[in-house]
Amino acid sequence: MNSDHRVIIVTGANKGIGYQVFKELAVATKGPAKIYLTCRNVELGTAALTKVCEETKKNRDGGVSLDFHQLDITDEKSIINFTKYIDSKYGKNSIDVLINNAGIATFGAPDPKGEIATRTIKTNYFGTVMVTEHLMDYFNHNARIIFNSSGVAKYHGAPREVQTAYYIENFKTKKEIDDHLNSIIKKAQRGEYENGVPSRSYCDSKAGLNTYTWLLSHQYQTDPRKLLFLSCDPGWTRTDTGGPDAPLSLEEGAVTIIYLSTCDFNDLYKHNGRYFHKSAMEDW
Ligand SMILES: NC(=O)c1ccc[n+]([C@@H]2O[C@H](COP(=O)([O-])OP(=O)(O)OC[C@H]3O[C@@H](n4cnc5c(N)ncnc54)[C@H](OP(=O)(O)O)[C@@H]3O)[C@@H](O)[C@H]2O)c1
Repeated sequence: MNSDHRVIIVTGANKGIGYQVFKELAVATKGPAKIYLTCRNVELGTAALTKVCEETKKNRDGGVSLDFHQLDITDEKSIINFTKYIDSKYGKNSIDVLINNAGIATFGAPDPKGEIATRTIKTNYFGTVMVTEHLMDYFNHNARIIFNSSGVAKYHGAPREVQTAYYIENFKTKKEIDDHLNSIIKKAQRGEYENGVPSRSYCDSKAGLNTYTWLLSHQYQTDPRKLLFLSCDPGWTRTDTGGPDAPLSLEEGAVTIIYLSTCDFNDLYKHNGRYFHKSAMEDW
């Protein structure tokens, strides 16, 4: 039951970078295509969809239609519900682009019982992984699976053991990343984590995601669908997460994800599994 439509999905798209990416893809995509704004809150999602439909109606290709579906990346029932929807509407091998954008960050707050660390790692790493694994059979030939990560571990002077390079050297399977991050959650709940580094759990969650991206590119290397997995840092952007002092506008924060979603597939495929910033591949 393969669809003739290109199917594109953005998670956490009711606001911030996800919203901007959804809006720009609505205009940049040639039809026939169906682009899904997904988020956890139905009211916020439908309101955001209505706004984008209105704002893009004059310059959107006639063959591109926009839609909303509820998706809470930490709720397996919600993910299964969305997967069943994709299955019944399009069948296997149907998703062309998945933008794993949804995420949270809390900076500088005390976390004596590890609640922030638990929520951050469960959302940014385990939630994103759960969405990707559930949708894996639904990716089309030449699908792009893009992870909105962060350069924070690299640039904010965090210790080496929360950086992607350390993860890549030490964790060779998804299970090893999962076990490591689960042990961090337990440590945080015992009050034995953070050690004065602002939002160390955010660094760990995104280092885990970059490493998962890298491992997927190897795991699916011989898959006949030729899947492309890339992670990226949008840069410090003015959103509810980034705060008002961030130097980048929403348009600037969307640039790298739009680049990875639209630029020549074979050019990007040479960098399968890698990490991008300012539309260029960077070391971890
Ligand atoms: N802004 C920056 O400077 C910056 C820098 C590097 C990386 N990033 C990354 O960019 C991504 C988007 O962040 P943003 O800056 O655009 O922040 P934002 O405006 O706060 O947007 C975050 C989005 O993620 C959604 N979300 C959170 N938990 C979710 C869940 N369990 N299920 C589904 N959606 C969920 C939020 O939904 P609700 O509205 O329901 O909360 C919201 O739509 C994040 O992954 C973030 O780590 C941002």
